[in-house]
Amino acid sequence: MKMSVAFPAVIQNMKMSVPLSLLLLLSLSLAIHTTDAFNITAMLEKYPDYSTFNSYLTQANLVSEINSRQTITVLAVDNSNISPLAGKPLPVLKNIISVHVILDYYDVAKLQKLSKNSVLLTTLFQSSGLAQNHQGFINVTKLGSDSIAMGSAAPGAPLGSNLVKSIVSQPYNISVLQVSHIIVPPGIDGSRSTAPQSSPPAPPTPTPKSGRAPTPSTTKSVAPALAPIVDDLADGPDLADAPNEDKADAPSGASALHVSLAVVVTMVLSTLYLASRI
Ligand SMILES: *[C@@H]1O[C@H](CO)[C@@H](O)[C@H](O)[C@H]1NC(C)=O
Ligand SMILES: *[C@@H]1O[C@H](CO)[C@@H](O)[C@H](O)[C@H]1NC(C)=O
Ligand SMILES: *[C@@H]1O[C@H](CO)[C@@H](O)[C@H](O)[C@H]1NC(C)=O
Repeated sequence: MKMSVAFPAVIQNMKMSVPLSLLLLLSLSLAIHTTDAFNITAMLEKYPDYSTFNSYLTQANLVSEINSRQTITVLAVDNSNISPLAGKPLPVLKNIISVHVILDYYDVAKLQKLSKNSVLLTTLFQSSGLAQNHQGFINVTKLGSDSIAMGSAAPGAPLGSNLVKSIVSQPYNISVLQVSHIIVPPGIDGSRSTAPQSSPPAPPTPTPKSGRAPTPSTTKSVAPALAPIVDDLADGPDLADAPNEDKADAPSGASALHVSLAVVVTMVLSTLYLASRI
């Protein structure tokens, strides 16, 4: 580091006249206030019903990816409906769980007020670059005043999961919603078998073309010319339609910068302190 040059001058100029303890305290408090805005693991730990989903988030190594986002929605499934994920190889687990992370903030109220009855929302899986055939989008469709169905936007996938309830929301940064079933986009795990979807709103499921080989390959033909109608990219940050309770607990957006700043300040000050004792 280039500090080696700066130090002697700094020490001489300061003559230890600045109360170091005060500065140390300052940098400490700076460090304390600069953690991530939220910690999805800790948030879900308070709800034992989602313990398996929570541990999958960790196993799939998605926690820091989620925590580092500023506006995100996680669709969690409770332990009694998590079995479609059991025994999946880690990369597949990661891909499927990524489909349950929407890259924007949606709480229940916002979903109920969507501008259209049916929208496609972008998920973390889309940003992985691995998604094909709309596997990276979730279709959210309002069925009635209080009924919202979801499913993969990949062609032929059923809307087999329902919005159940809000688990945690921290407007407009993170929302954790419970959905009834795991959403498994066709082809994401290398098999063509549509995941068992027993949910009421699922339309009569067309059986997958039986002649099709179960290869997740690039030779798969891209079905119908579905232009991704990603409703929500168009309507921008929905700050307008929400109550004004959000600013309360929202510290920094530039937390990474602050952390490194705090670390540097702390390093400099401890060196100064040590130097002053020699
Ligand atoms: C998030 O919370 C979990 C569980 O409380 C904890 O083990 C982990 O260290 C926390 N992560 C961060 C980055 O603070
Ligand atoms: C969502 O799925 C339903 C049922 O398959 C379909 O009718 C609708 O067009 C889809 N929505 C979008 C935006 O593609
Ligand atoms: C919450 O999100 C907004 C952007 O929507 C961002 O400006 C703010 O810093 C975030 N708050 C936290 C605590 O990260």
